[in-house]
Amino acid sequence: MHFTEKILVLDFGSQYTQLIARRVREQKVYSEILPYNVTIDRIKEFAPKGIILSGGPSSVYDKKAPLPDKEIFELGIPVLGICYGMQLMAHMLGGKVAKSARREYGRAELMIDDDTDLLKKTGARGKSIRLDSEGQGSRGVVWMSHGDRIVKQPEGFAPIAHTDNSPIAAMADKDRKFYALQFHPEVAHTENGTKILKNFVFSICKCKPRWTMQSFIETTTREIKDKVGKDKVVCAISGGVDSAVTAVLINKAIGKQLTCIFVDNGVLRLGEATKVEGMLKKHFRMNIICVDASKRFLDKLKGVTDPEKKRKIIGNEFIHVFQEQAKKIRGAEYLAQGTLYPDVIESVSFKGPSAMIKSHHNVGGLLKDMKLKLVEPLRELFKDEVRVLGRELGMPDEIINRHPFPGPGLAIRIIDEVTRQRADILRKADAIVLEEIKKAGLYSEIWQAFAVLLPIRTVGVMGDERTYENVVAVRAVKSVDGMTADWAKLPYEVLGTISGRIINEVKGINRVVFDISSKPPSTIEWE
Ligand code: XMP
Repeated sequence: MHFTEKILVLDFGSQYTQLIARRVREQKVYSEILPYNVTIDRIKEFAPKGIILSGGPSSVYDKKAPLPDKEIFELGIPVLGICYGMQLMAHMLGGKVAKSARREYGRAELMIDDDTDLLKKTGARGKSIRLDSEGQGSRGVVWMSHGDRIVKQPEGFAPIAHTDNSPIAAMADKDRKFYALQFHPEVAHTENGTKILKNFVFSICKCKPRWTMQSFIETTTREIKDKVGKDKVVCAISGGVDSAVTAVLINKAIGKQLTCIFVDNGVLRLGEATKVEGMLKKHFRMNIICVDASKRFLDKLKGVTDPEKKRKIIGNEFIHVFQEQAKKIRGAEYLAQGTLYPDVIESVSFKGPSAMIKSHHNVGGLLKDMKLKLVEPLRELFKDEVRVLGRELGMPDEIINRHPFPGPGLAIRIIDEVTRQRADILRKADAIVLEEIKKAGLYSEIWQAFAVLLPIRTVGVMGDERTYENVVAVRAVKSVDGMTADWAKLPYEVLGTISGRIINEVKGINRVVFDISSKPPSTIEWE
């Protein structure tokens, strides 16, 4: 994408690298992450107005310590090193790094020695700002990276802040516009951290705040038009935020040249197909093909109880159905996909290949078979930015703020064999869970809430009759990224209403239980 006001973040493997880029973007300045060992030509081509060197788990004295191309210090561009990035600057520019006598975890008071430049307005000179750990204990920010610290600053640098344990907690070479911080300004708990980043981005790099969603929409729709020309694009719609926003954005660019395909696989939520079709067709006047393939999917799932087999069957069948439909669209050359930035960041450095591409997308196989080319207009966005984009495009909150829903759908929430009858029962129970959570105003606080149909029958009594029917488990979790999760403490009244309604309204269920397990050790889904 073409923007002139850009900050480049070089990734040395810190868990906060993405956060740095996000904080910069929050200032309306575009920021991208590239691996530390990217070539100098690539950096020149990217043409950043400033470079931030992230933290990382290494020590500069490790044999395999990741080092960037030395030429980054000769480009005449401001550089800010954070944590490992700081030690790296000291090491590469002629200073000295040594093991610290004492590691500094958590809270520390930073004494500011020079408040004229990077630390401007973060606190008066001689005063302190608080550097806090995020959380407590071993998971807190170790802001003194691996116990290394600067004992001699490189020539041209002067200390601009210190702590009790660290005489050079921040340093600057104002002439060359090189800055370094021993702590993490990007974490929320660093007091005035955002102000420090703003000083770097605006006062030092002289960026202007041009990165807005409106500018993103203008640039991206133009790029899509140029790329696609007169060809046609197909897009698989799942009902999730990413694919819906992708479709709406592409539709804005090329209108009827886009055809969306929505596949009903028989394990969707209640009324899902109608809802999605309604929104895209009526509201955005899109070309959309809705395929009821539920029989095909449910036939293939007959007798299958293994969760991984269910996943494979649904993934493969989806590809077949999608392919059949897409082949009918003459002139289709492109496949649109809602890939997001965290999936494409080239963090080859430390995270390994597993962090690079998520395999949840079912459409990978299509590209080869059908010789389709990809359009991925959200490749540069974080999830929260996709939501802002969706809103800007006029999409309803109901789609924008949806809980994630797994590709294999209710199939992995029907423990044991999936049948149409079981899917129908679960759909009704699931709809009640969501309805009541929304009614109680809790939907947006919760990461995911759903019902699970258990293959257990228990005895109940309804009126004068004895019943012998299935159990439903209610699951509701809070999470930030789905990697870890805590069970949501739903109020008893809400749980009571959910249970009462499910038992009264859903034939086939006579007992409801609430799942009080966190992840880890349990997972969010039951299968
Ligand atoms: P777990 O159960 O692993 O779930 O704690 C973490 C997140 O991933 C979702 N999930 C899936 N999403 N295909 C998907 O598209 C899948 O096979 C799948 N399995 C789990 C789950 O809903 C939660 O958000």
